[in-house]
Amino acid sequence: MANSDSRASPGRCQGCLGRRRFLGLSARAAATALIAPRALELAGCGPLGGSTVIPNAPSNSYSFDFASYPELESPGGSIFVQVEATSGTVPVAIVRLDAANAEALQAICTHAGCTVNPLDPSTHTFTCPCHGSVYSEDGSVLSGPAYMPLQGYRTQLTQTAIVATIP
Ligand code: FES
Repeated sequence: MANSDSRASPGRCQGCLGRRRFLGLSARAAATALIAPRALELAGCGPLGGSTVIPNAPSNSYSFDFASYPELESPGGSIFVQVEATSGTVPVAIVRLDAANAEALQAICTHAGCTVNPLDPSTHTFTCPCHGSVYSEDGSVLSGPAYMPLQGYRTQLTQTAIVATIP
């Protein structure tokens, strides 16, 4: 069946979009452009990673207090944020590993630089949406194509917070 927009007729471009079809496609493209980045951001898996932005801190020391981030008080808990570091805004995953250990990881895949998905609490892994690399909750590579671990930041676990130094 011939598309009515592509029928040959005098004064009409063969293969061109009709006005109605052009406007419909344009409206859909505009809606996608407006909605998709926010949806990805909310899912924590877009180019910006987590939606909480942490402003630049004096001496690059960022304190994630348990009062503000109660999920970090228990082993297995994690948050995914954007840190406005001196070097620029970076996606960071803060992970409470166990009673005595925590990690602050740059959530950028070491294969080709995509932002990894937030920690999956059921598997305790980070997965890269671009080519499928999988990292453990401490940032080490479980499967490639990445072969380098996620970059870790100096981290200190106190009674009330996880403190990370993010330059
Ligand atoms: S960028 Fe992450 S697997 Fe390729």
